[in-house]
Amino acid sequence: MLTNLIVVIMLLAAVVSVITCREVTVSNVIPRRDTDGNIMDAHDGNVFLYDGLYYYYGASYGLCKEPPGPTGCTEWHTGGCGFQLDHNVSLYVSTDLSAWAFRGYVFQMSSMKTQGIMFGPRVLPNPKTKKWVMWFNFLPATGTGVSQSQCAVAISDTPQGPFQLVTEKVTTLAWENTGDLNLFQDNNGDAYIIYNAHIDGSIYNPDHLMSVEKLSDDYLSSLGKEFNSGYFGQTFVEGGAMFKRNGIYYAVFGQCCCYCVEGASVTVYTSSSPLGPFRTMNNLGNEGHAQLYNVLQFKTTGVEGYGYLWQGNKWQSSPDGAKGHDFTYWSPLSFDEDGNVKYMNYTASFIIDVISDIH
Ligand SMILES: *[C@@H]1O[C@H](CO)[C@@H](O)[C@H](O)[C@H]1NC(C)=O
Ligand SMILES: *[C@@H]1O[C@H](CO)[C@@H](O)[C@H](O)[C@H]1NC(C)=O
Repeated sequence: MLTNLIVVIMLLAAVVSVITCREVTVSNVIPRRDTDGNIMDAHDGNVFLYDGLYYYYGASYGLCKEPPGPTGCTEWHTGGCGFQLDHNVSLYVSTDLSAWAFRGYVFQMSSMKTQGIMFGPRVLPNPKTKKWVMWFNFLPATGTGVSQSQCAVAISDTPQGPFQLVTEKVTTLAWENTGDLNLFQDNNGDAYIIYNAHIDGSIYNPDHLMSVEKLSDDYLSSLGKEFNSGYFGQTFVEGGAMFKRNGIYYAVFGQCCCYCVEGASVTVYTSSSPLGPFRTMNNLGNEGHAQLYNVLQFKTTGVEGYGYLWQGNKWQSSPDGAKGHDFTYWSPLSFDEDGNVKYMNYTASFIIDVISDIH
């Protein structure tokens, strides 16, 4: 049955491509709900366009109640909702960035041999291997005290998983004791990880420093120091994201904000090559009081054909205290003639044209 359906779709695809353009209102003050009416529980993940569909992967924190306060990190490991062992990775899909269909949990921490805390999952489809690859931050629960965060990788034949663990610790990275990570895919299929690490291996040392590193062709590991940009930008940073526009590579990240209510102002760095050298550009401010998790390139009307959305987590913002109900804050990015990103004013809601082109 499913095979027949796929064949029909493939036959159709050979002759038609369905192009839709919708004017969409994006609100930052009304909770984002999926097509079943549930508040979207996807935080700290990535959103990208693939073959006419927007994929939104994110960490799911569920209905765990976070005590109110300036940060969700006061109860480190014990009780804090961001440090539970049962986090899942949610997938939502949309053709217009407005109606999001929940496709289930594509990865569950309960499936891991080693128990631990997962945060910040990011997924990319690999055009060479035709596999979907997920990277996430993994804090093993074993051992005593505060464990060191590491990068884990999982893989799937389909976008909706279930993703299978490949490794719970990538050992090829240039820097140890890693923090937040994000993935970036270039037009030629090459992929990069932007991540911060602790310079001396101590989690208490404030030297969270950012760098970019090329992934292997299969996206399952990285290429190490020789393919690392070297640390750049300010210290004590996290929440990085990369994107490309008119041949310029942008890296954007801000001050550390451990599930913090304040959010983080982000600085823009640019380069003509994905591994730098990066030049420090301007700061985009923190008017939305959110922490960046993704910059989404979406298809829109106009000469350029693409627009960019800044997407951040508003930690501790959930009206009912459930961490899974924390708001996310999205803002369109504006550029001047030289490609500089303009300061981000606060926006409660905005309207964009979203084009979907399904082959
Ligand atoms: C993750 O999924 C499992 C199985 O559906 C569920 O029991 C658990 O509550 C979920 N975790 C969270 C944080 O929602
Ligand atoms: C932000 O607001 C200022 C003051 O109203 C305005 O001049 C500027 O154009 C706005 N920036 C953007 C990107 O809209």
